[in-house]
Amino acid sequence: MKGVILAGGKGTRLSPLTYTCNKHLLKVGKEPMIYNPIRQLVSAEIEDILITSSVEHIKQMQELVGDGESFDCRITYKAQQGAKGIAHALLLAEDFVKGDHMTVMLGDNITTHSIKPYVEEFKKQGVGAKVLLKEVEDPQRYGVAVLKEDAITVIVEKSNKLISNMAVTGIYFYDSKVFDIIRATTPSKKGELEITPVNNRYIQLGQLTYNILEGKWTDAGTLSSLQYAEELLLTIDNEIIKSK
Ligand code: G1P
Repeated sequence: MKGVILAGGKGTRLSPLTYTCNKHLLKVGKEPMIYNPIRQLVSAEIEDILITSSVEHIKQMQELVGDGESFDCRITYKAQQGAKGIAHALLLAEDFVKGDHMTVMLGDNITTHSIKPYVEEFKKQGVGAKVLLKEVEDPQRYGVAVLKEDAITVIVEKSNKLISNMAVTGIYFYDSKVFDIIRATTPSKKGELEITPVNNRYIQLGQLTYNILEGKWTDAGTLSSLQYAEELLLTIDNEIIKSK
């Protein structure tokens, strides 16, 4: 199992904090934001991690995070040309993954409890994909999953209509056919390759499972969610809690 952390994007919702600093390097608790997803992957015994970031920020990221030795893992880096979406960034991982399965984390997703149980479940699943869901009060900010009889029937990205309050967190598990699925995906109106059509394709194939994420979760891409992430990590001293 390989780990991929996607840490690109412009971080415009956090400007001016992100004018000169990549969002994922901002302070959350006592550490830079990106340390949380790294610690998460390591807590699930994933030792080989790729971090992708923008051409402008990859050097800064590499200087700060290093080769992974201090986290007990190996970290390599790849630069994304332009902010062309989450699925576009994931394509950069194809050579790194080399046909293996992968756990993908958005670098601004902050969690308190280890994802190890879901990684183990996905290893047993063998084919397809898995997403982790969490109930939220502001579903319009996220991709949300419509559930029917214990299965996801569709994922809808950032809708103003109340379709579901189960957010799809930025923690995904894929088999290696994800790259072909991404290549077959049409870009959104914004011209980006988004991750939701990719997950919907797995639903059509009957190969998308889900779990409800234990513990607390937030993205940290806005000022208020960054502040909440800060509170979460300060209460656990930035350590990942073992899951049941
Ligand atoms: C992305 C995904 C969205 C998901 C969210 C989780 O949105 O597109 O489906 O719910 O991450 O953090 P973004 O925050 O990049 O706009």
